[in-house]
Amino acid sequence: MSNIFADDLLDGEHIVITGGGTGLGRAMAEQCAALGASVTINGRRTEPLDETVAAIEEEGGTANGISCNVRDAESVNAFFDEAEDAQGPVTALVNNAAANFLAATEDLSPNGFDAIVKTNLYGSFYCTQACGQRWIERGSGGVVLSIATTYADTGSAFVVPSAVSKAGIVAMMRSLAAEWGPEGIRLNAIAPGPFPTEGAWSRLVPGMDVEEDMKQRNPTRRFGEPEELATLVAFLLSDGAAYMNGEVVTFDGGEKLVAGGQFNAFTAMPREQIKGLFAKMKAARDK
Ligand code: HXC
Repeated sequence: MSNIFADDLLDGEHIVITGGGTGLGRAMAEQCAALGASVTINGRRTEPLDETVAAIEEEGGTANGISCNVRDAESVNAFFDEAEDAQGPVTALVNNAAANFLAATEDLSPNGFDAIVKTNLYGSFYCTQACGQRWIERGSGGVVLSIATTYADTGSAFVVPSAVSKAGIVAMMRSLAAEWGPEGIRLNAIAPGPFPTEGAWSRLVPGMDVEEDMKQRNPTRRFGEPEELATLVAFLLSDGAAYMNGEVVTFDGGEKLVAGGQFNAFTAMPREQIKGLFAKMKAARDK
C-alpha cells in the first residue's frame, strides 16, 4: 500500500507500541518508523522484537525492542525508564498488546480469565498511567491510542474476558479524555473488525469454512489489511487529529452495522434475484 502521508509526518515523535513485535503491532511500528518517528516496541518474547527492530532499521528507521510483561506494573515502569533512557521522552503510546482465545464461558478457569483481562485491561492501564504520570509532571502533553474491538460495545459469545476488558479500555479512554484533556493529553481508540494475523487467527478462527463465512458477512467481502490499520493509527497519532479526543473509530468494513440491520442478510442473494422478489411484492400490492 502506498504511503498517503508526508514522509516526515511523525518526525520527532517517540512512540511506544505494546505488542509491537508481531501482527498488527508490527505493522504499526513499521508505519510509524517509516514516517519519521523513533519507535519502542515491547512484548514478552525478545525474538519477535529483535526481528521487527532489524526490519525497521533495514528500512532506515529508528527502533528499539525491550521485553516487558504488561500484566506487571513494575515491569511496565522499568520498561518506560529504559525506553526513555535509550530514545528520550516518550510522546505517544499505542495500547496494542492483547490476549484472547475462544472458550465456553462456563469452562473458563480463573487463571484463563486473569490471563486475558490482565493483559488487555490491566496492561493498558499500567502503560497509560505510566505515560500520564510522566507527561503531567513534564507538562509535555501526549497521545494515547488504544486498540479495542467492535464487540467492546455489543459483547460477543465465547470471548467474555476479551469483551469485558476491551469495554473497560474504552471506559478508561473516555474517562481520561475528560480528566487529562486539560493536561494536553488526548486519548482515542480504534475498534477493528477482523484482521487476519497469525496470533489472533490461530486462537480465534477454527477453520477455513468459518473464514469464508466471516468474509461474506462483511459488506466489503474481505478482511482488513494490517497496513490499512497502521495508516489509521499514524493519522490518529499525528497532529492532524489533534482535536479528536475520547473517540472510538470503528474500522471494520461495515461488519458491525450489518449485524444490526434487519434486512441486511438479503445482500447474500444475487442482486437481480432480490430485485425480482421486490418486484413481485410490489406487483402483489398493486393488484
Ligand atoms: C482454554 C486457555 C487457552 C485456550 C490459554 N488458556 N489458552 N484455556 N483455551 N485456547 C488458559 C490456560 O489453560 C491457563 O489457565 C491460562 O489460560 C493461562 O494460560 P498460559 O498459557 O499459562 O498463559 P499465557 O501464555 O500467559 O496466556 C495465554 C494466552 C496468550 C492468553 C493465550 O498467550 C495470548 O493471548 N496470546 C495471543 C496473543 C494474540 O494473538 N493476541 C491477539 C488477540 S486478537 P489454567 O487454569 O490452565 O492455568 C483479539 C482481537 C479480537 O483479541 C477480534 C477478532 C475479530
